[in-house]
Amino acid sequence: MKNLTLLLALAALPLSILAADITGTWKSEFESQIGHQLYTFTFKQDGSKLTGKANSEAGDRKREAELKEGKVDGETISFVEMLSIQDREIRINYMGKLSADANEIRFTREVGDFGKAEIVARREPTAPATGVPTAKTIRIKAGKSEPVKDAEGNVWLADQGFEGGQTIERPDIQIANTKSPDLYRSEHYSMDSFSWPVPNGKYTVKLHFAETFEGITGPGQRVFSFNVQGKEFKDFDVWVKAGGPLKAYVETVPVEVTDGKIKVTFTPKVENPQICAIEIISQSSGVASAAAPSAATANAPAAAANATPAPILPSGPTVLKIDAGKVVGKVSSTLYGLMTEEINFAYEGGLYGELIRNRSFKADAAVPRVSPDTYEAGKYLPVSFRPDTKPRYWTVVGGASMVLDTNAPLNEFLNVSLKIETSSANSAARAGVANSGYWGIPVKPKTTYSLSFFAKADAGFTGPVTVSIESADDKTTFASAEISGLTTAWKKFQAKLRTKDVPPSRENVLKVTTRAPGTLWLQNVSLFPPTYKNRENGNRADIMELLAAMKPRFLRFPGGNYLEGNAFNQRFNWKETIGPLERRPGHPSPWGYWSTDGFGLLEFAEWCEDLNMEPLLGVFAGYCLGQGGVIAAGPQLDPYVQEALEEIEYLMGDARTTRWGAQRARDGHPKPFKMTYVEIGNEDWFDRSGPDRNGTYDGRFGQFFDAIRKKYPQLKAISSCGYEQPLSLWVKSRTPDLVDEHYYRNMEEMMAQAFKYDSYSRTNASKIFCGEWATRVGSPTPNMSAALGDSAWMTCMERNSDIVLLSCYAPLFVNVSQLTGNGRSMQWSSDLIGYDALRSYGSPAYYAQRMFSTMHGDEILATDSLNISARTWQRQGRRGGAAPAPEQLKEVFFVATREARSGVIYLKVVNTAGSMKPINIQINGAPKLKEKAEAVVLAGKALDDTNSIDKPENVIPHTETVTGISSSFSRDFPPYSITILKLKTK
Ligand code: AHR
Repeated sequence: MKNLTLLLALAALPLSILAADITGTWKSEFESQIGHQLYTFTFKQDGSKLTGKANSEAGDRKREAELKEGKVDGETISFVEMLSIQDREIRINYMGKLSADANEIRFTREVGDFGKAEIVARREPTAPATGVPTAKTIRIKAGKSEPVKDAEGNVWLADQGFEGGQTIERPDIQIANTKSPDLYRSEHYSMDSFSWPVPNGKYTVKLHFAETFEGITGPGQRVFSFNVQGKEFKDFDVWVKAGGPLKAYVETVPVEVTDGKIKVTFTPKVENPQICAIEIISQSSGVASAAAPSAATANAPAAAANATPAPILPSGPTVLKIDAGKVVGKVSSTLYGLMTEEINFAYEGGLYGELIRNRSFKADAAVPRVSPDTYEAGKYLPVSFRPDTKPRYWTVVGGASMVLDTNAPLNEFLNVSLKIETSSANSAARAGVANSGYWGIPVKPKTTYSLSFFAKADAGFTGPVTVSIESADDKTTFASAEISGLTTAWKKFQAKLRTKDVPPSRENVLKVTTRAPGTLWLQNVSLFPPTYKNRENGNRADIMELLAAMKPRFLRFPGGNYLEGNAFNQRFNWKETIGPLERRPGHPSPWGYWSTDGFGLLEFAEWCEDLNMEPLLGVFAGYCLGQGGVIAAGPQLDPYVQEALEEIEYLMGDARTTRWGAQRARDGHPKPFKMTYVEIGNEDWFDRSGPDRNGTYDGRFGQFFDAIRKKYPQLKAISSCGYEQPLSLWVKSRTPDLVDEHYYRNMEEMMAQAFKYDSYSRTNASKIFCGEWATRVGSPTPNMSAALGDSAWMTCMERNSDIVLLSCYAPLFVNVSQLTGNGRSMQWSSDLIGYDALRSYGSPAYYAQRMFSTMHGDEILATDSLNISARTWQRQGRRGGAAPAPEQLKEVFFVATREARSGVIYLKVVNTAGSMKPINIQINGAPKLKEKAEAVVLAGKALDDTNSIDKPENVIPHTETVTGISSSFSRDFPPYSITILKLKTK
């Protein structure tokens, strides 16, 4: 009785008396309209009064604000942060609830009327005066975006803690001298340093190295120094230390830490420094010091390294609720599109049907350096060639000799030709040249190939010339034709080569040979297989079919970096990409290889036409990559604005009444293309010119925007700087119709941002275009983990497609023939579709995207959920800094849409967990549901399950019939799965 009285008395006390004091430091990280934000709140509580500061970081922008109107009322906390933006004062209101353990506050954060988001602030533990717990062993796997297990079962954390450099994976190599070769199948290279927060004390640091780069072929070719906590390793040569390539070598360094971190610095001497893995093993119990990181930050990574964090189990059954009576928005009909550029041999060596590599012999061109101030926009700048150059990808046959000749050009654009001497040739011995295509010339049975070239010969040459498709080992001729009539003047020759019923193969070459002695010159040597819809100069059919199955609604082209180029004479200069192929000069692409521009502006638009997509044109906006330069707004930019207007006219203009529409008709396409969107530039947030490093894009955008609006008021203009970038770089002088946001992330990062757009403003005039995004896990093509990350992200975009009007994954293509080494076929890993000369395949991410884009309704339905399980995730520290507090990641993602016409409800459920999830689905407000439904399911056995060129259909979707559907039904969603339920109403 006494106890009960006491309890009642306690219950009657105001909560504020019972609540914990929140004085101290609190941190919060979240995604917002201006990108990733890191907040540090310093609270001082005095009774119910709260004062303090909010320090925030978003990109390179830092702010500090005094807290206003701060109150603590029991477990309810509220305050205001003032934000000045463009001479306006905006209130950021925080209203939060303190958790039972008093270590977490869940705030609703309202930024004026721009948007509302739920964020979590966590209390930073204060460093204890003594007895900082011993750090466990920290293991970091350089170059991997996911944790890796070694042979002993130890978990190595994904790549983190490095300052600078890049990563690369070499998944298929063999490594000697280790039981855990996976530790050496990726690396971080070219970094400046590595650091990791640890309590002070004694440690053993183990640095794991192996020389795995094909470009290093002996000792002395990669030499660098590194320093571990003051211990210098000078002129370190992995090759020498390990006794050769592909051998593991471990350097063990005992160190003492007195400043709260282990630091390793790297200095290049010959080639870049590299490292495969780092292990930090504590040898002592550590001594606390003021500089030591908090126990939480020091221990968080260690905990992650040694144990999988326990999942947060739901307190009841998981329920997904759909309110079919409440349509919260319209699904954008253009939500799913494609993005493309010349990267990873996407067109030449990919989609573009051409089989001959370096057909115009310009791959060895020396390109003049230009500065944007002196470069003339409309003028063609010829390239030159070093004397005695043998062209790349061409070899001699028999006793012939060959050289690049600038004295006998076909024209000013193809200002070089291949000169071939065949003086050794006679009736018994042929001589000539051969080309091995893009990692082989594909031969298919009963197939007709179209050959053409320009040629001339010296006066004494009698011919004929034989063209043949042969196996590279010289054993088989699949098809051949004779060409005669070469004269001393350039002439175009054509032939058809037809194969018999032979097995498909790709280790083949095209040969151009003769048995007549003499000299001949070749230019634009071309070989095409049958193309999609039999277009002349068209596309590879198998890849087009993979794309057609996605039913994409638009194509963003021509890039990407490919739009901008490394210099003004290396950008996508559209006027040099149209008209007869032999009058297209070509240009070097920023991804390291020559582009003939056979795949030019009209070919992009015809690609759209073939797949029923709308062109989404990116116009060059006066900014080139890196040192390429920029032209700020003003009269000097006018020629480029004019160029963009003419480019739009080429695509949309009437063939009879406009100059460039008429040119398009002359080029073979009288009908204008329908177009709605134009993007001005690409990723112009890279432009950090100017004293404040805020670049010139706002002004440039304005100049293009005004001109385009004036001539084409119906076009919607996209800013290439999205809200994920620092506010200082956004376009503010005009209101872009859309802004383009780019996200390259790992699986967990995608899951963490899968609610991002739920809090974006609904009233903002600028809508969202996710113009490049991908979960970059898996190489060369993404694996199941990536497909799950992508799908979590797609549920977010689809649920918010009232404001996310367009989205496209990037990059789309990769030629998988040569993944490493000089002249490799891949410049960027994790690409949606892979292929070699003969075969192509879709990654699990491809199938996930195909499911999303082909199965959705046009109305977004209101949804809610109960008890979705979550797991703990440790986000990497930024730029090698300390890791932030661990976050809870939901494991199940979903979205529901309905097709108004048929009443079919599409429910997409993504289970990212490795266990089956039983889920109850409740649908209110729908007419009666049919008892049977269809489920399309893509599931993997493991996160790294994937498809490849040899196993193209390892992970593909299957369809099943589901029974027992009603307004409340349950279904078990398999581990690592993406399910689309098509629920029919009666
Ligand atoms: O998709 C690869 C590259 O990523 C694009 O060229 C560029 O826009 C982005 O940085």
